[in-house]
Parts: sequence; C-alpha cells; structure tokens
Amino acid sequence: MEVIIQETAEKATGVAARIVAALLREKPDAVLGLATGNTPTALYEQLVRLHRDEGLGFEAASSFNLDEFVGVPEAHRASYHHYMRRHLFDHVDVRDENVHLLDGNAEDIPGECDRYEEDIRDVGGIDLQILGIGPEGHIGFNEPTSSLGSRTRIKTLTRRTRRDLAGAFDEQDDVPKHVLTMGIQTILETRTCLLLAFGVRKARAVAAMIEGPVSASVPASGLQLHEDARVILDEAAASELERKSYYREVYEAKPSWQR
Ligand code: GLP
Repeated sequence: MEVIIQETAEKATGVAARIVAALLREKPDAVLGLATGNTPTALYEQLVRLHRDEGLGFEAASSFNLDEFVGVPEAHRASYHHYMRRHLFDHVDVRDENVHLLDGNAEDIPGECDRYEEDIRDVGGIDLQILGIGPEGHIGFNEPTSSLGSRTRIKTLTRRTRRDLAGAFDEQDDVPKHVLTMGIQTILETRTCLLLAFGVRKARAVAAMIEGPVSASVPASGLQLHEDARVILDEAAASELERKSYYREVYEAKPSWQR
C-alpha cells in the first residue's frame, strides 16, 4: 500500500485529481470507479474545473459507482444517482450510456447485482477506483464482517452508518436499511485503488486499514492484498499511524518518474 500524507485535505485532493487527470490523458477511454460521500466532492470539483479550464475530456471514459441505496428514488437528493449528476456528470462531457450506477429500485435485486458485475467485466474491468472509508472501516457499503471475497450484492447498514447518513434524509427513520454495493473482491479486481480519507474521525479506521491485520472486521484492510492501492490522507486522518515518518520518507524519496 502506498501511503501519501499531505498537510491538508485540499492538498490531498490535489494529488488525487492529478492522478485521475493523468490517467484520462493517457487513456481517454479509461474506466473509472466512483465513490460518493463528503470526501470526494472536492475531487469532483477539481475534475470539473480541469474539464472546463484545461479541456480534460470524459467523452470516451466510462464509470461505475460503488453503491446505491435500496428503495430511494433516483431523483431524491440523498440518492447517489442524484449526487453524481450534481457533483460530476452534469458538468463534464461523459456520455449517459457510459455511466453505470446500481439500480436500488430494481425488481430483481440479485439479477441487478449480477448484471453489474457482468457490465464491469464486459468493459474490461475498472482502471481506477476512487474510495472513501467509513469510521468503522467500510469501503463502498461493505460493513464490518463483509466477506473479503464478496461481490456486488445487497447489504444491511449498521446503525452507526445509518446515523452518519441521517443528514441527507428528512428523518433518521427515512435512512434505508438496505443498500447495493460492489463487493470487496469486486474492488480488489480494479487495477488501481485510490482511497481518500480526511479528518480525525477517520484516523482509527485508517490506522486499522493500513497497519492492522487483514480482517473482515475492517473491510478496508482487504486493500493490503491489492497490488496498487494508494491511500491519500490529510494530517488528521494520518494521526494514529505508527509508521507515519516512514511513509513520508518513502514518498519524498520517490523518483520523479514514479510520481
Ligand atoms: C458512505 C459511502 C462510502 C463512503 C463513506 C464515507 O458509506 N457509501 O463510499 O466512503 O460513506 O463517507 P464520507 O466521505 O462522507 O465520510
């Protein structure tokens, strides 16, 4: 795992934006795995700016989102369909037919999840998966004890996650209990993973993911098995790491061709 620590979330977002932009310039038909939540909003803002001011193109690119709520209409302000349009899709030249999101209102939920896996396979797999992390170590909506071998499927949210998500809904009780999410194995099959975490609220989960044992109790720790997982943190999110100074030395000593 490559651990990149930046002074601020803004600088960390800048590093992530450069990685995504470099991929799109090198491979305009790249397949992006996208995440939602507060963490990547500034990244999408940067990508929209690069599209507007520097001609970064999304026309040939495709995308797959990590997860979606079950039973929330696509137009609802909390749905991830809505989030993605608002933060990225409405502002860049990505084509509708290349955008993939799980349908949390599908009648045949297992069929929907299988179709998603097939669609990912059909495009040749995901090149770069953007990830956030939950305070208990979830990635996507793979809650603690999710199998590290899991694929796209329906999951039940923990109470804590439902509490964390309450702000997006009118009432706590409106937060769905069920979600569809790519599995850990689905995520591990992407070519590069780029996980962003900011703020002290994420520090424990980040330390467990990077320095703890590989365990379904901390689903993000499965990324230790990934060949190219990069974790970009601000100081606060890195605050519980034991080997912080080592990660910094590694990053600073990186030859420029490797950056
Ligand atoms: C949700 C999303 C995750 C995200 C996590 C953290 O559970 N499904 O993909 O990483 O929240 O959210 P935030 O970035 O708002 O802290």
